[in-house]
Amino acid sequence: IRDDLYVDAAYDMLVVSNRLPVDYDEGPGGETRWKSSPGGLVTALEPVMRAADGAWIGWTGVADREFDPFEHDGISIIPVPLSAAELEEYYEGFSNDTLWPLYHDVIAPPTFHREWWESYVRVNRRFAEAAARAASPGAVVWVQDYQLQLVPRMLRESRPDLVIGFFNHIPFPAYGIYSQLPWRRQVVDGLLGADVIGFQRAADAGNFTRAVRRLFGYATRGSVIDVPDATGEVRHVVARHFPISIDAAGFEEIARRPEVQARAREIRESLGNPEVIMLGVDRLDYTKGIRHRLKAFGELLRDERMSVQGVTLVQVASPSRERVETYRQLRDEIELMVGRLNGDYSTLGHQAIAYLHHGYPREEMVALYLAADVMLVTALRDGMNLVAKEYVACRFDEDGVLLLSEFTGASDELRQAVLVNPHDIDGLKDAMVEAVEMPRRERSRRMRALRRRVRENDVANWSATFLKTLTGAGIIAPGIPES
Ligand code: F6P
Repeated sequence: IRDDLYVDAAYDMLVVSNRLPVDYDEGPGGETRWKSSPGGLVTALEPVMRAADGAWIGWTGVADREFDPFEHDGISIIPVPLSAAELEEYYEGFSNDTLWPLYHDVIAPPTFHREWWESYVRVNRRFAEAAARAASPGAVVWVQDYQLQLVPRMLRESRPDLVIGFFNHIPFPAYGIYSQLPWRRQVVDGLLGADVIGFQRAADAGNFTRAVRRLFGYATRGSVIDVPDATGEVRHVVARHFPISIDAAGFEEIARRPEVQARAREIRESLGNPEVIMLGVDRLDYTKGIRHRLKAFGELLRDERMSVQGVTLVQVASPSRERVETYRQLRDEIELMVGRLNGDYSTLGHQAIAYLHHGYPREEMVALYLAADVMLVTALRDGMNLVAKEYVACRFDEDGVLLLSEFTGASDELRQAVLVNPHDIDGLKDAMVEAVEMPRRERSRRMRALRRRVRENDVANWSATFLKTLTGAGIIAPGIPES
């Protein structure tokens, strides 16, 4: 890290995440361009960052390139470089082939490599150093997600004056699973460097607190953990759930645009006007239960409980982590299943499954949500699942059915969805039929209740609640309106 880049930097609020809210892109002449990646987190934190003289620290999405800090859309960006080897060992390896499967209840077997761990430590240190250099005295630093679990402790050691928060976007597993991790003490200790550790579900926070007791024997009372420092003085660390959400009003605004509604009608027509459109939208990831969904649909077609004239399944599977072997295998398996099902059941006029291995702009996603009569979220394990919330936010017409896995964080809040256990294929098939056949009154009753919930806890509320907890009762972080 070059010291000279940080001489003038003194930010009161820092967000630290593996990926920046902008992605590197190369222009036609080889020049650097920055593409916004308009995730929910960016929308939520943008106003906070602007009002609080904040900066965002993270990786640009490209290896072996160093960039100076810059401004993008009024937000200060501090890029952290990763080498090609670190991309392989820290990101694809330890983050996405060790922690990811482990934290998602070992749906796929985690791989443990000591070199990957060493790279994870090195990269976490680089992020912590970047934050330590950029933070003003007493600044608030909010670290995001499982790729950076060691950063809170590293930061506290170099900058004890800082207020440090951490939010884990994915599940935290039960101790029986977590304890497989050879570096289980280091990771928990890394997180305990924070003042507030946020999780998606109460169950995740409970799993973490139990891991703390088992590994360190620290006293815990509800969501407070007593963490002794080297001098024996005790720090109170809060570990509790803060379910993340979306910019609900933003999604609804797009859904109300006439051109987006016209696009939804066009999508329906281009599919041959089936009576019912079922939709799946996922990163192509083995946690999402895409295979289970396809199997259930295939059997419904085989059993003639559904027909391709009646029902089309649109499956958007956006490319993800394509250099990790488990993801490659998954893609092959899914594409084989889609090919077989289409071969067996499609007609010239009606496709069983419209499979799209692409990411799409938000407007196109909203049009798909509006076109979908049934939204299928069948994840085997998912921290939250924002697709479920996006679908609900878009359905201002109070129509559409959300079929939702019990193993998503979203199912804690979205109780009026048709809840399913995706491992139970017969149960899943029955739930799909129930969703397709649900009468309009029942659909509206459920959708109204779901929409109320998503509006009440939107992403601005999520970040405000977290930051209020972090900066102490009554003390509001700069720029955060009281809710
Ligand atoms: O929360 C899950 C998460 O891993 C985020 O940290 C990340 O931004 C997103 O999914 C997409 O994953 P990736 O950054 O590995 O493409």
